[in-house]
Amino acid sequence: MTEGMTYRRCGNSGILLPEISLGLWHNFGAGSDAEECRAMIGRALELGICHFDLADNYGPPPGSAEERFGRLLKQDFFMRRDEMFISTKSGHLMWPGVYGDWGSRKHLIAGINQSLRRLQLDYVDVFYHHRPDTATPVEETVSALVDIVRSGKALYIGLSKYPPALFRRVCGMLKAENVPCLLHQFRYNLLDRECETETLPTVQQEQTGSIVFSPLAQGMLTGKYLGAELPPLSRAADESSVFLDEAKVQNAAKRVRELQHIANKAGIPLTQLALRWLLRRQEISSVLIGARNVTQLEQCAQAAGQAPLPDDVLRALG
Ligand SMILES: NC(=O)c1ccc[n+]([C@@H]2O[C@H](COP(=O)([O-])OP(=O)(O)OC[C@H]3O[C@@H](n4cnc5c(N)ncnc54)[C@H](OP(=O)(O)O)[C@@H]3O)[C@@H](O)[C@H]2O)c1
Repeated sequence: MTEGMTYRRCGNSGILLPEISLGLWHNFGAGSDAEECRAMIGRALELGICHFDLADNYGPPPGSAEERFGRLLKQDFFMRRDEMFISTKSGHLMWPGVYGDWGSRKHLIAGINQSLRRLQLDYVDVFYHHRPDTATPVEETVSALVDIVRSGKALYIGLSKYPPALFRRVCGMLKAENVPCLLHQFRYNLLDRECETETLPTVQQEQTGSIVFSPLAQGMLTGKYLGAELPPLSRAADESSVFLDEAKVQNAAKRVRELQHIANKAGIPLTQLALRWLLRRQEISSVLIGARNVTQLEQCAQAAGQAPLPDDVLRALG
C-alpha cells in the first residue's frame, strides 16, 4: 500500500522517483535505535517513498548506515527489494591510506565492493561518485564508473557535487560509453540557492535527473532553532554532527525568522513550505530529506503531491 505519493521522471530515463526520498546520512548509524530505523523504512514504503539514499561513509562510524540498512533489508524488507531504489556513493574518506578516498579506479572499485558487502546486496540501483577529484584524470574515474555498471554492480551512475563544467564533460563521456548519468545530487534549500545560477540549467541541458539534499538546511528550515536554547534532541546539539552547530544556527536565524513569518502568513508549516518551494521546479526529480523518526518523515512526506504554492507566497520567498 502506498499513500498518495507523486512520482517524477528522472531526466530523460526510464526511472521514476518519489517527490520525497529518504537519505540515511544521519540517524541510521551504529548508535541509532534499530526499531526506529525499521519503522522509518517501513513507513517510508507505506508512504510511497521508495528511494533510499546511502553512502559508504554514512554512520557514524563510517559504513554503519549501510550495515544497518543491509541488515534490516535482509530481515524485513527483502521481498520488497524490487520496489526499492537504493543508492550509495564513494569518494569521501572511508579507510586509511592513500586509496581511501577520491576518484581513482582503485578507490571506486574497492568502494562499491565494500558497500555491496555491507548492504548484503548484489547490486545497487545508483552508484555515485560522491565528490569530484581534480587530481585524478577524469578518464580514469569515468572508466571505473562505466565498468561498475557493466559488471552489474550498479544499474545507473550518479554524480554528486560536481561543478557545472565538469558535470557537463563527464556526462558527455558517460553518454559516449552508453552509460548515461542518471542523476546529479547537490544542495538546494531556501538558505542556499547557489545551484540556481548554473547547476540547474546544466542539469536541464544534459537531461539528467536531479536530486537535492539538505532541503531543510539540516533542520534549520523547520523553525526548530528559533527558541532561546538548542533543542536537546537535534542535529545542532549533537557534537558528533560536525556540519551543523550553534554558530551556523545563529548565522541563519534572521533569515529563518523572516521565512517563518511568511509561512505563518500563508498558513503553511515552514517545513512544508521549504519542501514545496523546491518541488516548484519541475527539473528537480526528487527532494532528499533526512529524518530522526517516523513523525518527522510523515511531516516531510506531506509536501508531496500538493498544489503549487500561491503566487504571492512565491513572490514573498523571492
Ligand atoms: N551528496 C552529498 O554530499 C550529500 C550531503 C548531504 C546530504 N546528502 C543526502 O541528503 C540527505 C538529506 O540531507 P539532510 O539530512 O541534511 O536533510 P534535511 O532534510 O535538510 O535535514 C534533515 C534533518 O532535519 C530535521 N528534521 C527533518 N524533518 C523534521 C521535522 N518535521 N521537524 C523537525 N526537524 C526535522 C532532522 O534533524 P534533527 O531532528 O536531528 O535535528 C533531520 O535529520 C542525507 O541523508 C543524504 O542522503 C548528500
